[in-house]
Amino acid sequence: MTGDTSKNSLAPDWYAGGIEHVWLPYAQMKTAAAPLPVVCTQGSRIFLADGRELIDGVASWWTACHGYNQPHIRRAVAKQLKQMPHVMFGGLAHEQALTLARRLTALLPGDLTRVFFSDSGSVAVEVAMKMAIQYWINRGARGRRQFVAFKGGYHGDTTGAMAVSDTEDGMHALFAGLLPHHHIVDLPDSEERAAALDKFLSLRADGIAGIIIEPLVQGAGGMKFHEPTVLKRLRALADKYDLLLIFDEIFTGFGRTGTMFACEAAGVTPDIVTLSKALTGGTLGLAATIATRKVFEAFWSDDPAKALMHGPSYMANALACAAANASLDLFEREPRLRQVAAISAGLLQGLAPCRNLRGVKDVRVKGAIGVVEMQRIDNLDALRARFVQEGVFVRPFGNVIYLTPAFTIAERDLSTLTRAVAKLVGEGIG
Ligand SMILES: Cc1ncc(COP(=O)(O)O)c(C=O)c1O
Repeated sequence: MTGDTSKNSLAPDWYAGGIEHVWLPYAQMKTAAAPLPVVCTQGSRIFLADGRELIDGVASWWTACHGYNQPHIRRAVAKQLKQMPHVMFGGLAHEQALTLARRLTALLPGDLTRVFFSDSGSVAVEVAMKMAIQYWINRGARGRRQFVAFKGGYHGDTTGAMAVSDTEDGMHALFAGLLPHHHIVDLPDSEERAAALDKFLSLRADGIAGIIIEPLVQGAGGMKFHEPTVLKRLRALADKYDLLLIFDEIFTGFGRTGTMFACEAAGVTPDIVTLSKALTGGTLGLAATIATRKVFEAFWSDDPAKALMHGPSYMANALACAAANASLDLFEREPRLRQVAAISAGLLQGLAPCRNLRGVKDVRVKGAIGVVEMQRIDNLDALRARFVQEGVFVRPFGNVIYLTPAFTIAERDLSTLTRAVAKLVGEGIG
């Protein structure tokens, strides 16, 4: 690792003693910049061991929507910790999980009425895919095993989820030839592309279980936006060819794009939806795969072979469900969607000066997501380090600099973030 903080006299002992023993995410360990030692977080602030304080522009991979250490969530988790941190979900049920399932299904549109809990976004996607394939098997159609997914898409790092991500250009390209083959096609974001997808499905639908998409925003694949019309077209095609439509709302769910769920913007109800990330307000790992009555009914039988054979050990963890219930309380009682609208306006205004800067390909904003797409970024680590020097935590990837702050971020902190982006883009750094 470069810039090895273990050699820094200010690095705490736990850092120096442990850093050689961890394997970091998405990192070439030999050359990656050393991670910053964090001692605590509060609101939109990250406090480093050497006393520096950073304004957070990422909300911990889009999870911490209410800011860090939110008191209501902390209290709920502390209360649950005293009572029961965890109990297995096989043969046993508990209040937090059942309450959460009821509340989620009430919030979601249409008849998305059955919640299957798991522990991470990727697993929620695996469960959705398994559900879709078995839906067809249970109905006697064994040949429907493939999915239609989209170029630029990302659905997680486990093998099933990798296989429906963009395997050509995405981060999992290395595995392209090894993963099960699915159909990764262009988004139907024009009449011509919609017609091409229609034609493709007319030939291949009988081998396809479903269509999976990140609605409105393709996140980790490049922060690309599409119009709600795309989702309407997919619903129509799924209905025409009798396919299941899966919305992966792991990034977009819980207000990030401006409505509670992205599917609301299109007035479309998918057959299966996946949620995670902001589900617990950024405190604990939890995910959910929610199915419509139609999907659930294909599993409802006297035949044990028609059951969904899945059940992670930490499924419906009581602490995580308590955090999620507390997070939903906050969505109910605080003006989160208005805050998202205000952030949207702040991002538009604050990032607008980037439009005219050299090397900038596009500037775009949707909900609380602000993106400056560069022609290219040559040195991501250098750019990330410059952001830290500016007192902010921003983590560009590929050719994209983006801001996805907590919905509770103060106006002046948001301005500091957008000013830092404009300044560094102006410097032509990276
Ligand atoms: C749309 C989407 N799906 C799935 C995942 C995977 O979630 P996790 O990292 O919790 O496995 C992510 C993570 O970024 C995501 O953005």
